[in-house]
Amino acid sequence: MSAIESVLHERRVFPPSDKASANAAISGMDAYKALTAEAESDYEGFWARIARETLSWHKPFTKVLDESNAPFYKWFEDGELNASYNCIDRHVEAGHGGKNAIIFEADDGAVTNVTYQDLLQRVSRLANALKKQGVKKGDRVVIYLPMSVEGVVAMQACARIGATHSVVFGGFSSKSLNERLVDVGAVALITADEQMRGGKALPLKSIADEAIAAGGCDAVKSVIVYRRTGGKVAWNEGRDLWLHELVENESDQCEPEWVSAEHPLFILYTSGSTGKPKGVQHSTGGILLWAAQTMKWTFDMKPDDVFWCTADIGWITGHSYITYGPTAIGATQVMFEGVPTYPHAGRFWEMIGRHKVTIFYTAPTAIRSLIKVSEADAKVHPKSFDLSTLRILGTVGEPINPEAWMWYYENVGGAKCPIVDTWWQTETGGHMITPLPGATPLVPGSCTLPLPGIMAAIVDETGQDVPNGQGGILVVKRPWPSMLRNVWGDPDRYKSSYFPEELGGKLYLAGDGAVRDKDTGYFTIMGRIDDVLNVSGHRLGTMEIESALVSNPLVAEAAVVGRPDETTGEAVVAFVVLKQARPEGDAGTKIANELRAWVAKEIGPIAKPKDIRFGENLPKTRSGKIMRRLLRSLAKGEEITQDVSTLENPAILDQLGEAR
Ligand code: WT7
Repeated sequence: MSAIESVLHERRVFPPSDKASANAAISGMDAYKALTAEAESDYEGFWARIARETLSWHKPFTKVLDESNAPFYKWFEDGELNASYNCIDRHVEAGHGGKNAIIFEADDGAVTNVTYQDLLQRVSRLANALKKQGVKKGDRVVIYLPMSVEGVVAMQACARIGATHSVVFGGFSSKSLNERLVDVGAVALITADEQMRGGKALPLKSIADEAIAAGGCDAVKSVIVYRRTGGKVAWNEGRDLWLHELVENESDQCEPEWVSAEHPLFILYTSGSTGKPKGVQHSTGGILLWAAQTMKWTFDMKPDDVFWCTADIGWITGHSYITYGPTAIGATQVMFEGVPTYPHAGRFWEMIGRHKVTIFYTAPTAIRSLIKVSEADAKVHPKSFDLSTLRILGTVGEPINPEAWMWYYENVGGAKCPIVDTWWQTETGGHMITPLPGATPLVPGSCTLPLPGIMAAIVDETGQDVPNGQGGILVVKRPWPSMLRNVWGDPDRYKSSYFPEELGGKLYLAGDGAVRDKDTGYFTIMGRIDDVLNVSGHRLGTMEIESALVSNPLVAEAAVVGRPDETTGEAVVAFVVLKQARPEGDAGTKIANELRAWVAKEIGPIAKPKDIRFGENLPKTRSGKIMRRLLRSLAKGEEITQDVSTLENPAILDQLGEAR
């Protein structure tokens, strides 16, 4: 049975405990239904109410939703606010300056506590320094940093002066970084000398240097470098600046720049079905509102909770649930520099005990990989650690199979912590479909029901609703505040990718397939319906990997598909035709390894194909179209049962079916 089939057959139900419901923000299904009904009866009134209650506005908004230029929606547009003020100053002003904002644990275990007062000073200093470097409201700043307090400070400092940040994950290659610097038109880059992961120092500054040298980055006037390891770096006098020197003499007072709620807070690149990543543009008011509100609803955060989201700030999860969400509500959070398996595979559980974490949010891939090691070694099993402080668990980024869900529930949560399986995307800005810990009866593997105000639905290819029990295309029927506003510099792509005419031009197309349960109406996500893969919760476009492969001088043609993988959810499988004869044996292994390294250099190590198969050709129809469905079957090692009579070259299937 596939993972999805097993979810569809899942009949176990875990109702919320009385304890979980007692003081919950949404304390039961009645409370949930009341909020849903409020949103349905007065959509704008509902959003206006929570926007007023949740955020501090410098200038209150008078308009809620502007649909006059749909699908380019605007929310709270004449309202003014500042994200950094909302995330920091207002808590200090309320007397909570001494509260820990971030408990940072380094790769080597060193712990640093950063209070809201500290954060205010550090953000203000860097904000002043950025201004001195000529960075102005509306300018774009690229951030290429490891998991660090400096990363959060850099993002918040941009927000403070109205600059739009674009964070690039530290695992991306110089080429990927270059493309983003160019596309976004960055005026400054904030990076580090090196990053520490699993006891090893990995370069950042040298990759950043390469990225800038690759051209098109003339607008980048300053490169600000955080000294993390003290490793040796090349220095470009006049362009490169040490972060610590830059902020040393800056004032720790910086008046926030008040911006319209629609002012772009950040641009974050993500993969789509074409080769070029999309710059997903988010607004200040919308994303901040939803990041804060979902901290309260989905995670039921209370003032004494200690929250830990294990995502990297280079992804949307790190934006919404590290940099902005927890701080917007004045919470204490743990932030971790390293990897879950160093110095041992019990690191997560050890840290939960050390920092008395109450709410823990991670990816199914991490859980699946830790199941394997801890079932083999009792010393790193969660049961060997003190996890008694935990009260809520969460997952994000990919479907969780019921087996992994049950293991997480029993071994990490001690069968007493609800698991919130949060479905959302870079484009949605925050949670969309998720259980509520004090209200929703849980079904392993199902993300259950949409949050109040989120009009999620399942439709067919023409945009018509399908009945429960029947699979279809996941859409959102009404705009919501934290939705993306545009694809940076490419409004046509925004329209065609997310509001396609085939569906009538009004429905937001998520790109996932889904089905609702006949009885409960619960949603189960069935995976992407476009050419996007999800490997360990990382989103990769098959076309991006194909372009990387064909840019190698040895490669004539390449096709990339996904294959289900026990640990990483999906794995990348590449079918490659070389310009030279089809290699066999060791020669094939050698070239496959070369191509893997090539993809790592072109995109980043996360995009490396797990399996590369060489053929003299690819399976094509007589009109020359690659038959991807066949490739997917071959990748899985399935017997080919499809009709192959339209195939130009059926003999090729045997060659490509041979697992390497
Ligand atoms: C894609 C979005 C969500 C932030 C991190 C990833 C898949 C995400 C779930 C879930 C099943 C999920 C979808 C979605 N996905 N969460 N709980 N259950 N699938 O953001 O990189 O934009 O990827 O991740 O396929 O479309 P992203």
